Amino acid sequence: MDCLFGSKMLDYEVTVFTANRPFAATFNNVFIKLVGTSGESERKWLLSLRGASAFAKGAVASFTVSCPTSVGKLVLIELDKQPLVVFPEDAWFPAKVEVKSPEGVTYNFPIYRWITDCKVHHFREGTALKGFEDNHHLGRYSREKEIKQRQKDYCWDVYADGIPHCIKADDLLSLPPEVRFSFSRQTEFLFNAGTGLAELQLKGLADNKMGWTNLDDISRVFCCKQTEISDYVQEHWKEDAFFGYQFLNGLNPMLIRRCDVLPDNFPVTDAMVFPDCRCCLVEEMRKGNIFLCDYKQLDGVKTNIINGKKQYLVAPLVLLHKTPDDKLMPIAIQLKQKPAEDNPIFLPSDSEYDWLLAKIFVRSADFSEHQLNIHLLRTHLLAEVFAVSLLRNIPMVHPLYKLLIPYTRYTMQINFLARKTLISEEGVFTKFTSSGGEGMSTFLKRSLFSVTYSSLCMPEDIAERGLEDMPNFYYRDDGLRLWDIINRFVRGVLSYYYKNDLEVQQDSELQNWILDIFEHGFLSHPCPGIPQKLATVDELIKFVTMVIFTGSAQHAAVNSGQYDYGGWMPNMATSLQLPPPTKKGEATEESMLKTLPDVNITVQGMATLWLLSQQSSDFVPLGQHPEDHFSEETPREMIKKFQKELEALSAAIKERNKDLKVPYTYMDPEEIENSVAI
Ligand code: FE2
Repeated sequence: MDCLFGSKMLDYEVTVFTANRPFAATFNNVFIKLVGTSGESERKWLLSLRGASAFAKGAVASFTVSCPTSVGKLVLIELDKQPLVVFPEDAWFPAKVEVKSPEGVTYNFPIYRWITDCKVHHFREGTALKGFEDNHHLGRYSREKEIKQRQKDYCWDVYADGIPHCIKADDLLSLPPEVRFSFSRQTEFLFNAGTGLAELQLKGLADNKMGWTNLDDISRVFCCKQTEISDYVQEHWKEDAFFGYQFLNGLNPMLIRRCDVLPDNFPVTDAMVFPDCRCCLVEEMRKGNIFLCDYKQLDGVKTNIINGKKQYLVAPLVLLHKTPDDKLMPIAIQLKQKPAEDNPIFLPSDSEYDWLLAKIFVRSADFSEHQLNIHLLRTHLLAEVFAVSLLRNIPMVHPLYKLLIPYTRYTMQINFLARKTLISEEGVFTKFTSSGGEGMSTFLKRSLFSVTYSSLCMPEDIAERGLEDMPNFYYRDDGLRLWDIINRFVRGVLSYYYKNDLEVQQDSELQNWILDIFEHGFLSHPCPGIPQKLATVDELIKFVTMVIFTGSAQHAAVNSGQYDYGGWMPNMATSLQLPPPTKKGEATEESMLKTLPDVNITVQGMATLWLLSQQSSDFVPLGQHPEDHFSEETPREMIKKFQKELEALSAAIKERNKDLKVPYTYMDPEEIENSVAI
């Protein structure tokens, strides 16, 4: 375009991408200003012949912004939208803006957030910049402004003393819109929660406070919803080999460890476990064939009262033997921590119901250990801390934001809902599990103080638990490969941005992030190994690998099989209503049935586990970066390579599973969600 004085105007080609998500469109007028190192354009109305459809859901629209002189290298854009008289102000979700300069350079401005008001918003050019590299005064100004605003939008809150802090939100709508479910997903979740019981056709049983009188009745209720694995569980739950298998590849693969010396409070003898004298414990321990599951952290946890009845939860010790044919067989169970006459050590050679009842108590203890420590605390609550800390401390233009943001999707919102519908005073967990209520908070506090950094880092965790050589341990096999793939991806991206350790030490935003995690996640408690600052590129890579692994692979491993393993209630009772046996020879089928939870407790548990095992329709699998935050070619290539490696792993896991009686699918990359979102 020629200007009035005849000199040539310079044209910037502006392309606006509106996100392809529900309600992303705007009917408002959109304005843009380009800001560069040598000047800025006028604020320009983005007017299109296409009218409002230029900003429809998923639309890509191009415009020209003309300037008398070059604005130099683009630093940021200013965007605002103004309502028309006929259309009220609406919310717009632009994905990104691309600007091609007259010099032929294309600049990418990632946005990926709602613009709900008519204020002017700044968005930085997508080339990643750490704070100390951000030299332009406007860039620095917008960086500081963004963080100040985020610290107002994302505040820490204390849900209960002694557990990781969470996002402050009075209700769902008070969460910043960027971190809320898309509308379809929200409706879907609430719909599911409201009709979980209906979907399992169990509504009529929700108020039935009767006990079970035979396993067939449980079976009739259970057959409303079955999965291939839940079916298998129903068929095999009584078998010792399957009981042992679940410590490796069931819902909680985190407790078992190799046993080199028997704990003092578990006086198992050779005569008890190897009556035929073919083996001896000391020798088997020396060979690495003896394993222990010790639920000591559950000791003394106060139990619930449900249907007016006191409930029971034990803190058992389980000893397992790896047999020459590579089975992991339970050989001794002591239900309480303190050895005593009224705390017998149960053995497979005991009567059928003595032994089965002991195993039922262990499985029910495992339900509480798994849900509270392994699932809620060590994945959901920590992932929320990682996410809130990221948003409070790291601006969008920082490479860490670009790398980690896909791995935080929906975590705050799902945790808000979990606090509201599962663990609140009226929550399902509080009302229908043995550890609900006061016991839960005692146990969560203990669990947090027992977290070590190495227990969050899979290769170290497996080595520390002495499980490197355990056969048929698919959680470990798949998990270590995933850790390695994630670690190499993270190393590639972060080594590109951090050339030496000094750059890590100098990065004050990064240091604020890690300190916030230490203070609000680990409550400044010196949990062994948890860093308070990062000194080297390697330390940064390890921590970020752990963050991604925890929210994706680890969460999937302990989340997705909830109905598979818990749908058949006797395999994982949420509560038990008779005390643990104090003598051998007294248990019968009838006493076992009386110990199992009442009908209403059973169906509430089943409905909740069903809901929590569902994959949502807007599921994003591991390694997908649907938002285009990186402008540089190198990280974009690394994302593609990461996805290719995950694809290959997925194919290998599917191949391996063909030969397994119980396929292990939870850590197949195709089945793993990027973030804690359910
Ligand atoms: Fe979960």
